[in-house]
Amino acid sequence: MRLIVAPQIRKGLIRPEIYGNFSEHLGRCIYNGVFVGKDSPIPNVNGMRKDVVDALKKMKLPVLRWPGGCFADEYHWKDGIGPLSQRKKMVNTNWGGVTEDNSFGTHEFLELCRQIGCKPYINGNVGSGTVQEMSEWVEYLTSPSISPVTDLRKANGQDEPWDVPYFGVGNESWGCGGNMTAEQYAGEYRRYQTFVRAFGGKRPACIACGPGTNPEDPNYHWTHVLMKQAARYMDGLSMHYYTTIGDDWDQKGSATDFDKEIYNTTIVRAGFIETLVRNHGAIMDLYDPDASIGLVVDEWGTWYDVEPGTNPGFLYMQDTMRDAIVAALTLNVFNRHCRRVHMANIAQLINVLQAVILTEGNQMLLTPTYHVFEMYKEHQGAELVASDINSPDMVSGDLSTPMVSQSASIDKDGIITVTIANCSADESAPIELRLDGVRMSSASARILTGDIHAKNDFDAPEAVRPSEFCAYTSKTDDNGSELRFTLPPCSVLSMRIR
Ligand code: AHR
Repeated sequence: MRLIVAPQIRKGLIRPEIYGNFSEHLGRCIYNGVFVGKDSPIPNVNGMRKDVVDALKKMKLPVLRWPGGCFADEYHWKDGIGPLSQRKKMVNTNWGGVTEDNSFGTHEFLELCRQIGCKPYINGNVGSGTVQEMSEWVEYLTSPSISPVTDLRKANGQDEPWDVPYFGVGNESWGCGGNMTAEQYAGEYRRYQTFVRAFGGKRPACIACGPGTNPEDPNYHWTHVLMKQAARYMDGLSMHYYTTIGDDWDQKGSATDFDKEIYNTTIVRAGFIETLVRNHGAIMDLYDPDASIGLVVDEWGTWYDVEPGTNPGFLYMQDTMRDAIVAALTLNVFNRHCRRVHMANIAQLINVLQAVILTEGNQMLLTPTYHVFEMYKEHQGAELVASDINSPDMVSGDLSTPMVSQSASIDKDGIITVTIANCSADESAPIELRLDGVRMSSASARILTGDIHAKNDFDAPEAVRPSEFCAYTSKTDDNGSELRFTLPPCSVLSMRIR
């Protein structure tokens, strides 16, 4: 297969935010995931697990979305501030009906972001909250002025406002966020976002709820209506896409026990995200030809049955090399479409859906998906360069996706990063990588590979991890350089070329 990378053809900034994550009050994502409380025997800083924070720093997590998800439209932020003993308890109706004690709230979330060094992306409540409640939250978060709300913040120990660059106005407003029509939500969005004020002179970027999508219902109508009626009031439009393998939401199949046909279906359905990005992007182009409004894919990833014996409302799943391949090909799609995709947040951070980290008591492990994010981190803030590969397709039903997926970028020091996923379960991929017009002086690479079922669990937490890859030859002529190598089946390669 011929892979051409043309570093002289620059195609725009890959915003670091494409490598974002999502943390909801769901199952063991927040509680017993990232947050264990100050009195926990598990090593923590202000209640945040130290091992988890360290791993997220190493992955260079750029942005974290919170508090939901469906939870966001039932969340009343004032219940989550002030002395712990006085915080109201509530029932988490969306996720297992468990008691939410609100011990993790606004201050704790912003402390978590501070420790990780990532930007906060807060999602406001449109479904069951008022305009006043949302407006006051933004004031509490960002205002440097004197007011009852900022006095309250100061009384709770935070004198200075926080920097909150992203604010979501509702979540899945077509579903758990209020079952609205596109026309109805467009009106609500215009009203609510008006009161997301520039309290400190800087207004958070407002992200409108976009379509929920699947191959059978890509929901282009929603995007048309939102862009037509509200484009001038938004900085981003969200899109959600989960890769499922069953025909309906109740039958998703096992995260770890699957055959090659199901593997194939998963990969091809994951690849459908490129069609969605392209088509929703084309609709956005009609109203926003300069792509100043971002397509914000703030929920994406695989969604299977929960691990046997765990609470069905907690969405706890294992993660295998199959998921690593989904992550790798999806991030390549986002890179290649970085003109329009300004942010993306995989669902979710820890112990929920396609998590990058799993915890069990005081143990923690990094999933294969984590390693892909870590291996791709050099793309963050780099410039996309043109690349193309003549890959055969993988096919499932009416859908298809390239067997080998790629993207390439160049950073400010002129170092080129090429990431490649061989998505096939059993075929190797011989690659001739042609670096057009650039003569390389050195290269280094890491590979993540294994059987499609390979995973990390608490008995073998490092069964899947990246290793150095040196099995390539190179030659350079007047017109550039060429590298030759063979990628094993089910593998992800990250190459740095100087
Ligand atoms: O990520 C789990 C749920 O999936 C989110 O709460 C919701 O937005 C989506 O349906």
